[in-house]
Amino acid sequence: MATVRLVHLKAAFRGWTPSPPTAWELLRLPNSSIRAFSSAMSPPSRAIVYDEQGSPDAVCKVKELPPLPIQDSDVCVRMLAAPINPSDINRIEGVYPVRPPVPAVGGYEGIGEVHSVGSAVKGLRPGDWVIPSPPSSGTWQTYLVKEQNVWHRIDKSTPMEYAATITINPLTALRMLEDFVCLKSGDTVVQNGATSIVGQCIIQLARVRGIHSINIIRDRPGADEVKQKLKKLGADEVFTEKQLEVKNLKSLLTDIPEPTVGFNCVGGNAASLVLKFLKHGGTMVTYGGMSKKPITVSTSSFIFKDLSLRGFWLQKWLSSDKSKECRDMIDYLLSLTRSGELKYDMELCPFEEFPTALDKALGKLGSQPKQVIKF
Ligand SMILES: NC(=O)c1ccc[n+]([C@@H]2O[C@H](COP(=O)([O-])OP(=O)(O)OC[C@H]3O[C@@H](n4cnc5c(N)ncnc54)[C@H](OP(=O)(O)O)[C@@H]3O)[C@@H](O)[C@H]2O)c1
Repeated sequence: MATVRLVHLKAAFRGWTPSPPTAWELLRLPNSSIRAFSSAMSPPSRAIVYDEQGSPDAVCKVKELPPLPIQDSDVCVRMLAAPINPSDINRIEGVYPVRPPVPAVGGYEGIGEVHSVGSAVKGLRPGDWVIPSPPSSGTWQTYLVKEQNVWHRIDKSTPMEYAATITINPLTALRMLEDFVCLKSGDTVVQNGATSIVGQCIIQLARVRGIHSINIIRDRPGADEVKQKLKKLGADEVFTEKQLEVKNLKSLLTDIPEPTVGFNCVGGNAASLVLKFLKHGGTMVTYGGMSKKPITVSTSSFIFKDLSLRGFWLQKWLSSDKSKECRDMIDYLLSLTRSGELKYDMELCPFEEFPTALDKALGKLGSQPKQVIKF
């Protein structure tokens, strides 16, 4: 395990901060100063760092980061868990539009316990559970120091893995159901990528509002089991892409109305299927591109069906001064996880097994549940 030079880390993690004293300088300080200073330093942190952008399995390394000074308004958090999301991978690859400068620590959301606070911090104390809200970079490490206003205290009875994953995907599902079409009880939505966390949340958040969902998944061994799982969450219909190779898709629907809105996180054929299900005048919202294939829209979809294509990006939504609203929605979503009304598949992975979790998140081991690192 290598030690990264402090001068690089400061720039990567929090912008410039004064260097802590060297061991030699500490020896020169009177004893009282040593105590005062050392109590305002974070413990060293073990982190997943990338020094350059590239394929995550090639550029990510575990590194021991030296202690950081805890300024008056800072909170030092011992991280408990953080997920590996597709956008984390894209940031490391260098293909995400907004990404931290390298070297950087991976991760953008997670849950931690307050370890210590700066002298001016009010309302947070050691032992509290907090999440960065809005999300903030560098969560794949054991100790994270950020300003108090980054952290949102949450109810400690929340299951840890849900607290770690509540922002990026569940909030995206919630916003997309609210922001594009005025949906009312009895309406229908259609989506691909239904096995994703966003997809599972759309099913359940729609169900809570009395809204039906048509769900498209990839063909795979064990597809029937996956369909049953999604139906248990509240999905009305679940189809594999192959099942939808029919002339009249809508003949497959039983009692539910045609969807007014569709959600696409896959692209390619899976996006065309969403479009085919949509009602005249319907809207498809694209929020991901897992297949890396473009969306093809027939001319007739525009002329004869008057379909609209929109896009959603949570980061943009969050940047428009929505932090209070964001925290209220997070609290609402967390309450649903505590009551069991919102659940999704996750696999907790010990920090030491990060490379395996990363391989799973990269799709090298076939379809896998969301990987959540446990520190
Ligand atoms: N725009 C935004 O603001 C925003 C916010 C959050 C998430 N997202 C996007 O939402 C999508 C889902 O994120 P998540 O974290 O919920 O996903 P996740 O839980 O990590 O699951 C990954 C999903 O992608 C599917 N998938 C993986 N590789 C694929 C491929 N080559 N072709 C087709 N499908 C593939 C998986 O299907 P299988 O089950 O078949 O493996 C699974 O449904 C991602 O594209 C993510 O970037 C966007």
